[in-house]
Amino acid sequence: MNMGSTVVRFLSIATLFTICLLLCNANLSAPCKQNERQALLKFKHDVEGPLNQLPSWAGEGDCCNWTGVVCDNLTGHIRELHLADTYSGKISPSLLNLKHLSYLDLSNNDFQGMQIPSFLGSLKSLRYLNLSNSMFVGLIPHQLGNLTSLQVLDLHGCQQVQDSYDYDDHLEGTTDSLSVESLQWISGLSKLQHLDMSCANLSKASDWLRVTNTLPSLVESFHMSACGLYHIPGGIANMTNLKFLDLQGNYISSTIPKWLYRLSHLQSLILSYNLFHGEISSSLGNLTSIVNLDFDSNQLAGNIPNSLGNLSKLTTLAMSENNLNGSVSEIFESFSRCSSGQIESLSLSSNNLSGHLTDKLDHFEKLRLLFLDNNSISGPLPPSFGNLSCLEAVAIGDNNLTGVVSQQHFTNLTRLVEFDAPGNSLTLETTPHWLPPFQLEMLILDSWHLEPSELPMWLQSQTQLVALSMLNTRISGTIPTWFCNFSSQLQHIDLSENKLYGEVPHIFPSSRCFDIFLGSNQFNGSLPLVSSKVGILDLSSSSFSGTLFHFFCNNSSKPKTLRILRLDNNLLSGKIPDCFRNWERLEVVNLESNHLIGNIPRSLGYLLSLTYLHLRNNHLHGELPPYLKKCTAFIILDLSYNKFLGKIPMWIGTNLSSLAVLSLRSNQFHGHITYKLCDLTSLQILDLAHNNLSGRMPICLYKFQAMASNSEISRFSFEDGNYNHYDDTFEDNEIETAILVSKGREVKYGNSLLRLATSLDLSDNNISGEIPEQLTSLIYLQSVNLSNNLLSGRIPPKMGDMRWLESLDLSMNQLCGQIAPSMSSLTFLSVLNLSYNNLIGEIPKSTQLQSFDQSSFIGNKLCGPPLEVNCSNTNGTVPPVADQKHGGSYLLEDGWFYLSLGLGFLFGFWSVLGSLLLNLPWSIGFNRFLNSIVKKLYGVIVEHF
Ligand SMILES: *[C@@H]1O[C@H](CO)[C@@H](O)[C@H](O)[C@H]1NC(C)=O
Ligand SMILES: *[C@@H]1O[C@H](CO)[C@@H](O)[C@H](O)[C@H]1NC(C)=O
Ligand SMILES: *[C@@H]1O[C@H](CO)[C@@H](O)[C@H](O)[C@H]1NC(C)=O
Ligand SMILES: *[C@@H]1O[C@H](CO)[C@@H](O)[C@H](O)[C@H]1NC(C)=O
Ligand SMILES: *[C@@H]1O[C@H](CO)[C@@H](O)[C@H](O)[C@H]1NC(C)=O
Repeated sequence: MNMGSTVVRFLSIATLFTICLLLCNANLSAPCKQNERQALLKFKHDVEGPLNQLPSWAGEGDCCNWTGVVCDNLTGHIRELHLADTYSGKISPSLLNLKHLSYLDLSNNDFQGMQIPSFLGSLKSLRYLNLSNSMFVGLIPHQLGNLTSLQVLDLHGCQQVQDSYDYDDHLEGTTDSLSVESLQWISGLSKLQHLDMSCANLSKASDWLRVTNTLPSLVESFHMSACGLYHIPGGIANMTNLKFLDLQGNYISSTIPKWLYRLSHLQSLILSYNLFHGEISSSLGNLTSIVNLDFDSNQLAGNIPNSLGNLSKLTTLAMSENNLNGSVSEIFESFSRCSSGQIESLSLSSNNLSGHLTDKLDHFEKLRLLFLDNNSISGPLPPSFGNLSCLEAVAIGDNNLTGVVSQQHFTNLTRLVEFDAPGNSLTLETTPHWLPPFQLEMLILDSWHLEPSELPMWLQSQTQLVALSMLNTRISGTIPTWFCNFSSQLQHIDLSENKLYGEVPHIFPSSRCFDIFLGSNQFNGSLPLVSSKVGILDLSSSSFSGTLFHFFCNNSSKPKTLRILRLDNNLLSGKIPDCFRNWERLEVVNLESNHLIGNIPRSLGYLLSLTYLHLRNNHLHGELPPYLKKCTAFIILDLSYNKFLGKIPMWIGTNLSSLAVLSLRSNQFHGHITYKLCDLTSLQILDLAHNNLSGRMPICLYKFQAMASNSEISRFSFEDGNYNHYDDTFEDNEIETAILVSKGREVKYGNSLLRLATSLDLSDNNISGEIPEQLTSLIYLQSVNLSNNLLSGRIPPKMGDMRWLESLDLSMNQLCGQIAPSMSSLTFLSVLNLSYNNLIGEIPKSTQLQSFDQSSFIGNKLCGPPLEVNCSNTNGTVPPVADQKHGGSYLLEDGWFYLSLGLGFLFGFWSVLGSLLLNLPWSIGFNRFLNSIVKKLYGVIVEHF
């Protein structure tokens, strides 16, 4: 035997085998039809562009073998096209040649905003049509109603709405999505079992209620989330086979209809993000097939019925953000009959639940997610908590929990990754050498009492930690060296409002940590060096001293990612160094209330993203440098309480066109108020008080759009619509607070309130001439202070037009004539000072004007109530009421209306938070956590009010 013959023998066997295979194959499945192959090739050709997007669709081989093509194995006709996620481009009408096509999946492709082609309605054999998330927009063609065999129609478009647009706009019709004018065609789909039109705008289809009544009872799955619906379609009552019902994110305002509870096959019922109100019927217990029940974010009230316990298949219960009350222990008890062992996710956050947590928590063997935060639950955390061995995420924050939480409470929590429990009166007692059974990614212990009160050593074991917040936990001591490196994942750390002290030489040089909140501690020494990856740094309200030089100028070659920097309220001194070139990402810089001297450095002009700059209350001086005009993103510029001088530059008006708040208060500016300032059409707060400004008030005032129109105000009314879907918390790009100090009360305005605040303060200058009539066109101004100037002439007769005015101070000028009678219509006015002018005559009669104290009017020749001078007696020639106690300096000293800005609470931006969102591992818990950060950043804090 030689090698040759072996090879020959082998080859011939192989050939036979191959031939057999081919024959067998031919027997088993017919090759595809020529005309259908041509149709597919035409389809491929019509798919846009030179990209070879369907590479397998080529050559002479059997087209039934092409990717995504399924033929009938007997006839060889193409029956199915599975083309999800495969291409972008068009849909070719050549599909019409596939007469036997019953299944067409084009989901998750990019059809680039084209309409759904009406010829799809001629694919008579279709039973399955999936066009979801494929960037179709415009009217859904009624021809789809001819697909009488259709069982599945999926037009779900939420992905694209969320990806590209603001959700609210979508329903306003301003962005692209699918829509319909009539839904009549749907009644043709008599075999329909699955219908998903989520995120199509159905609000214009007046007939949809009637039409959904004609849907066949076959329907098993019905998804109309975010369709702009105001009513629940009654026709659902007849869909007795319904298993999945999703109506979330509509405007449905009714009680939950009783007939819903008769749909005994329902497995998933999602009514979240609507306006359902009233109590939940005990018939809830009739939904015995239910697995997933989601009533989040409605206005449901009353108790959760006990019949919940009948739902033995329930794994997910979500009723957060309602007005439910009752005792949490009763809810837990009602479960424990037979269903508690099934529950995997329990979400009851943001209700009014009270009572204690049951100590039989361990019945919930499969519980993975437990969200009870923001209720009024009291008592201790029961030790049985430690037996929830499946628990992955828990949120119990913002309740009234008390007592001690010890290591025992975590005994079996080996899977725990998120522990979110701020805002209770809990004490955590651990031994320094505890080795926790879990590896946390998120730990929030704000307002806890730590025992011992120092940074817990066991944190070192948490190498996966991404977010750590221990705000206001009374911990003291220095930051230990291990702390800088224990988790390479750490991205968010908040140790604000503690008693940490000592020097902080470096901050997390090796970690990826990008937001660091260490404000309101007792750190001292010079500022730390910061890793170039940090995005938010808050070192405010400590005792850092020394200069800013090494902080900004060291290692200056590397570009920094820092976007938000708070160093305010420290003891920093020296000049602001001219080293901003590598800090181009900075959006917020707060250096206020330090001892800084010198000029504004030139390189600040590189900060093109700089939006908020707070330099208030330092010793800065010099003229405003022209390079600042490159920072066109400014929204808030607060230079108050310094020694800046010169004229107010024209470029502020010309270049800084986004400014909403401009405060130059208490400096040494002189000269006229440039008419260019009037170009600041977004300006809401203009404070030029306490300078040496002279000349007249500019007549062009009327150009201050934001003060003259209510556009801002209407923009903020989004809450009445209750659309509230998805991440509306991140709605606003700017998060900033200003503080208005009014009548001695300090009010911190969160972003939303700031949008509403409008104020003009020119007091304590040498402004002369008349008050221009144009001022009265700023009808949305809430506060006007022109006191202590040299203004003369009359009060503008149309003053009464400024109907939102709450505070008006014209005192200590030389105004003459009578008080404009129209002022009697200023019904919101709560502060008025007209004292020390030359006003004469009778004070106009209105409930409002007479309600002020005499001191509002003294120092004039006025008569009538509230003054005791009787008009008829005096014939209008009253000597001024002498009240020297309240003479000249009264206003100056107290500054009864005194606007100060940006004292803090300015941290985040959407952009920063957005990156948090992208970077943190996503989960419900994290989402909540982010919401809580946003709330914090929002600081809609009216705590002193
Ligand atoms: C089908 O295609 C695969 C590769 O795409 C190939 O290996 C196989 O031989 C083909 N079968 C037929 C019957 O054409
Ligand atoms: C044809 O396909 C169906 C479904 O895939 C299968 O059940 C059947 O056995 C196949 N028939 C032949 C002849 O291969
Ligand atoms: C749809 O059906 C109607 C009749 O039911 C017919 O008049 C119409 O031409 C059909 N449209 C298409 C696109 O097939
Ligand atoms: C349900 O179907 C019955 C019988 O077909 C009909 O009379 C009734 O009006 C339907 N109910 C609704 C709400 O459409
Ligand atoms: C739920 O079931 C109970 C007992 O079977 C019944 O009395 C009640 O009417 C049912 N509720 C509804 C809404 O049908």
